[in-house]
Amino acid sequence: MSQSLNAELLERDHRHLVHSLHNEAVHLAGNVWVRGEGTELIDADGKRYIDAMSGLWNVTLGYGRRELVDAAAKQMGELAYASGYAGSTNLRALELGEVLAECVYPNIHRFFFTSGGGESTDSTIKTARYYWKAVGWPGKFKTISLLGGYHGVTLAAMCATGLPAYWPAFEPRMPGFVHIPNHDIYRYPVPPGADPDTAAADELERAILAEGPETVALFIAEPVMGGGAYVPPAAYFRRIREICDKYDVLFAADEVITGFGRTGRLFALDHWGVTPDLVQFAKGITSGYIALGGIGMSDKVAAVFDRPGADTWMHCYTYSGHPVACAVALAAIEVVRREGLVARAAVLGERLQHGLRHALAGHPHVGDIRGLGLIAAVELVQDRSRKTSFDAARKIGPQVLSELRRLGVVTRGRGDTVYLGPALVSDEATIDRIVTTLAQAVTTVLPQ
Ligand SMILES: Cc1ncc(COP(=O)(O)O)c(C=O)c1O
Repeated sequence: MSQSLNAELLERDHRHLVHSLHNEAVHLAGNVWVRGEGTELIDADGKRYIDAMSGLWNVTLGYGRRELVDAAAKQMGELAYASGYAGSTNLRALELGEVLAECVYPNIHRFFFTSGGGESTDSTIKTARYYWKAVGWPGKFKTISLLGGYHGVTLAAMCATGLPAYWPAFEPRMPGFVHIPNHDIYRYPVPPGADPDTAAADELERAILAEGPETVALFIAEPVMGGGAYVPPAAYFRRIREICDKYDVLFAADEVITGFGRTGRLFALDHWGVTPDLVQFAKGITSGYIALGGIGMSDKVAAVFDRPGADTWMHCYTYSGHPVACAVALAAIEVVRREGLVARAAVLGERLQHGLRHALAGHPHVGDIRGLGLIAAVELVQDRSRKTSFDAARKIGPQVLSELRRLGVVTRGRGDTVYLGPALVSDEATIDRIVTTLAQAVTTVLPQ
């Protein structure tokens, strides 16, 4: 039998390219995507798949949106590029700043643009260090973040990322990065007598005191952790805010996944009425149609940029404020507003979370089902009562992912946890099909 076109193209690709998370076996069993339509991807053999991760959580508006294509083409014709270095800007960048100032958090009105999440993390860390030097506390330079958190893989972002698998091949890490246990409600061992709502947040206070508050610049966390869909207890971020205020530590929300509607709020800390000092975004700001990220700064932080005689901020990217990326972002935000997609994500999210519980909670190897809005995860375990994991060599999670793919649904996972992050424009039938197909795949790999 002749080889499929998909397989032939993968071999060609493999000869010359190194991929993100490069792994030959994974790659050669993959897909060459040639087209996207709405919430579906089509591979080189013409097979259609539901994209249950909307790309890498980013294609929130689905594939083939004419408004975004037209915005990019128009801007490329008008002004394809302009430096964003001081002394130069462009109309789309300043308009995007105005729109974001209206809709991010009420205390955030200044923005710096990057090309993605990792650059945004570096920008957050450097802005926090810059801020403390500017206000006269140069000894505050450390960043505290959550174990299990993901903030990207540029060198500083990799050091903030709390997934140890990302470290060993690139050690030594930079000094000044500290990790604390996260708020995984399923596994966090709440100390006897402690309040389960705030016990994990108190880890931050312990870490700040152990390091010395005079050395800690920043705490950074995802409001809902993308890798694993861990949703904090309701009081978690309120307690984090209190601790950061008490010890003069800036609090940054990494909203690269949660920003622009995915959790059913435009920005996710809004679920708990908390505002950060810094917020970082990427992915959904352009629905993944073009690379754009950035950070927003609270008025308190931004004030240091306006000090009389302030030194030049020696931080910059060639593509900061790229006019085409900003034009696409403006068009994407307009679609989110016009189509009411934040409220829609809340409704679809309820359907997804309930659907998963209904279809999978009774399975003896489903340990935990969690998420908020259109971020969800299903964790498979060997023994439900003891929460013990499967032997990694059995590759239960990867088997479920490949069975899902065979059944026409693509998504991602880590270990034996399967992630879901459908587009905000999904219809009910697509959400239901993702749920029933996942239940089918789990039961095929782990018969009851
Ligand atoms: C929360 C979070 N922060 C940062 C990043 C890094 O973004 P990028 O891959 O654009 O560098 C990601 C990417 O998945 C992310 O999910």
